Amino acid sequence: MRERWALVSWPGILRRRAAASVCVASTVVLGWTVAAVAEVPQTVPRAHAVEQSWGSAEIPPIELPEVEIPVEIPPIELPDLGIPGSEGLRATGSAAPGPAGRTPPDCTVVACVALTFDDGPDRQTTPTLLDILEQRGVPATFFVLGQRIGGNEDILHRMAGLGMEVANHTWDHPDLTTLPADAVADQVVRTSDEITRATGQPPTYFRPPGGAWVPGTVPPGELTLTMWDVDPLDWLHRDPATVAHDTLAEVGPGDIVLLHDIHPTTVEAVPRILDGLAERGLVPVTLAELGHH
Ligand code: NI
Repeated sequence: MRERWALVSWPGILRRRAAASVCVASTVVLGWTVAAVAEVPQTVPRAHAVEQSWGSAEIPPIELPEVEIPVEIPPIELPDLGIPGSEGLRATGSAAPGPAGRTPPDCTVVACVALTFDDGPDRQTTPTLLDILEQRGVPATFFVLGQRIGGNEDILHRMAGLGMEVANHTWDHPDLTTLPADAVADQVVRTSDEITRATGQPPTYFRPPGGAWVPGTVPPGELTLTMWDVDPLDWLHRDPATVAHDTLAEVGPGDIVLLHDIHPTTVEAVPRILDGLAERGLVPVTLAELGHH
């Protein structure tokens, strides 16, 4: 289902956060405490047999026992240089911690962006995307359709377990500006109920399909209306290189990026996007961590 863009202008909502953006995430490993204590048993073969002879006197071989000498290496403390934000970046010892286990960065210090994926879940593409995000330890927000939840509860359950945000994108993607208020409420409330049923948690965020929303009206259920800042038109450009390039050409600190997990080409673009964000010092976070409310 296509996202149309700029159907309704939302300058107040599409605000760009010009937050201070000292990036430390990808480079700082300072304050990293290495506690390497190793018990290294060493077997020292001093001598099994020492044979000496002086003149004609025969000295019998001397048998020396094998001796185990434990060698203890003391812990090495690396200094904490006091760079703000580095406290949360200590190595955990895990090569690829899942998003749920990660320490969220401080987005007042680190340059953060929020990746959002609309119109799923899709049984073919969404699990692959979750694999990528889990392996990278990256959170994202999924604006799901209520009608796609039945039969895909396991996917939503996995999202929630990984620390992803599961958000509301209506029941079946209508143009909400063409519907009466009670039908709009039905689209939103039914979807929130399905999300709650599948994940155990009600959603916080709501995105109207295509961004089409009557200005001044409030989403039912105290949901936070969420648009976007960066739209690479991934539904149109079904090419991973183009989607990644167009995303990275536009994205900056505080931005919300609009993508769709129902397109295999978009999922294929995600590793490139994550690499590009890291090169730019931009850290992917959830909408909540971005401070979106
Ligand atoms: Ni959509």
